[in-house]
Amino acid sequence: MDFKQTPANIVIFGGFGDLSWRKLIPAFYNLYIGGYMPDEFVIFAMDYKGLSDEAYDKHMLEGINSFSRNGKAKDADWNKFKDKLDYFQGDFSVPDTFPRLKAALEKNDKNWGVRGTRLFYYAVSPSFIQTITEGLAKYKMAGMVKKDRIVVEKPFGTDLTSAQALNRLLTKNFKEEQIYRIDHYLGKEVVQNILAFRFANNIFEPLWCNKYIDHVQITVAEEVSVGTRGKYYDNSGALRDMIQNHLLQILSVIAMERPCDYAAECIRDEKAKVLKSVSKISAPEVVRAQYTEGSVAGAPQIGYTDEANVAKNSKTETFAAMKLFIDNKRWKGVPFLLRTGKCMSQNSSLIMIQFKMTPHKIFKDDEVPNRLFISIQPNQTINLIVDGKIPGIHMRLKPVNMDFTYTDAFCEPSPEAYETLLLDVLEGDATLFIRSDQVEAAWKIVMPILDYWKTTSKGLKKYAAGTDGPKEADKLAKSNGVQWALTSPNEEALKCD
Ligand code: BG6
Repeated sequence: MDFKQTPANIVIFGGFGDLSWRKLIPAFYNLYIGGYMPDEFVIFAMDYKGLSDEAYDKHMLEGINSFSRNGKAKDADWNKFKDKLDYFQGDFSVPDTFPRLKAALEKNDKNWGVRGTRLFYYAVSPSFIQTITEGLAKYKMAGMVKKDRIVVEKPFGTDLTSAQALNRLLTKNFKEEQIYRIDHYLGKEVVQNILAFRFANNIFEPLWCNKYIDHVQITVAEEVSVGTRGKYYDNSGALRDMIQNHLLQILSVIAMERPCDYAAECIRDEKAKVLKSVSKISAPEVVRAQYTEGSVAGAPQIGYTDEANVAKNSKTETFAAMKLFIDNKRWKGVPFLLRTGKCMSQNSSLIMIQFKMTPHKIFKDDEVPNRLFISIQPNQTINLIVDGKIPGIHMRLKPVNMDFTYTDAFCEPSPEAYETLLLDVLEGDATLFIRSDQVEAAWKIVMPILDYWKTTSKGLKKYAAGTDGPKEADKLAKSNGVQWALTSPNEEALKCD
């Protein structure tokens, strides 16, 4: 039976939380109206409050209307979808919660006449993971390895030790193949396209190595502040919140070897090898900084330590920049520069690969290095900068832009990352999810930095909200003879004079 015909019980622990409101329910809704959901399914949104169904539905409709890429829900679609949404009052610490849930799942199975797929989504604070896992295990709700899937949101631990403990807990109660550790960056269209770009086009592969690549930059700059997330963020910081997961996952897709097949384990093996090959980072050289008062996109912005639920003397970084090396044959000696920050001048998730200059210069004009820009957001583009001859009698050079823009090249809209990933879970495809060894390898990379930062807050710098981080980050780039790129090439700059 294919997955469309297999009914599904979907349980969201934290069904009323922010993630459910902004991302999960809008994603399920879009999958539903796009015709991707199984023919029969129920979403149990578990929450402790005891809301009425009407109040729950109203809030979720607001979420869809505000955050769905398809805009406001059509009445007819919403009315059908809301029948699939089942608000389930349940407190994890109350003993009857899990037997009640089990009975509800079994009732659906009975009505369907078949044991359905089960998807358990942990959209909860990490402190609940143990209780939920033990509840599911005790009542044998996720015992069918091929049908039952556990989705775990980040943060996956707060350091290596806690991540290892979490892996032990999960793998003691479920099989690794049932566990889907989610990193929504891997569901983003352009990140997935890196695999196609690298492994379906033969022309880049020979150049993708230390002989031709000068350095690689990965930037995830955000305009948003920590806003209402102060409590979580102040215990986390940019290194844990963004670099340990999203940036290192992008790095592993950029740097991985060709997988044996387009298959989950082949891809995950190669990505894990990259993370395991990262050399120890020199912690004192890592730049960390906090935003101070300023203005972002024309609006005034308070400083980090004035945000709600942030300690006044907080030393948590909202910006981090670092250099690392991958110690293998392909990448030996190529610096990878990573940076991320909140309250920066603009939203931009960008990979920039700069190639080495031609070894033998024959033109009088300056040549620019070839640069490949892969923009994940806000634009979905790939640009290759090459030198070209300016039309005319004399030989003069100018950089030109070879441009691939998603919206020009494809008529199909890009799904939201969560749509792609949720559908993958329903289909049982773990390719875009993180395996236990990957998550631990990523923690091993950042641990020396976290350990060093615990010993001193001396290096913490400041940057005004709305700027691009502290000058120390520019110095880090400069000391490697490079400049940070924040956006894809500016068309204006490349136009004729
Ligand atoms: C989350 C982080 O994982 O990713 C947030 O916790 C961050 O702090 C967000 O803002 C960025 O995701 P996106 O998809 O908006 O780039």
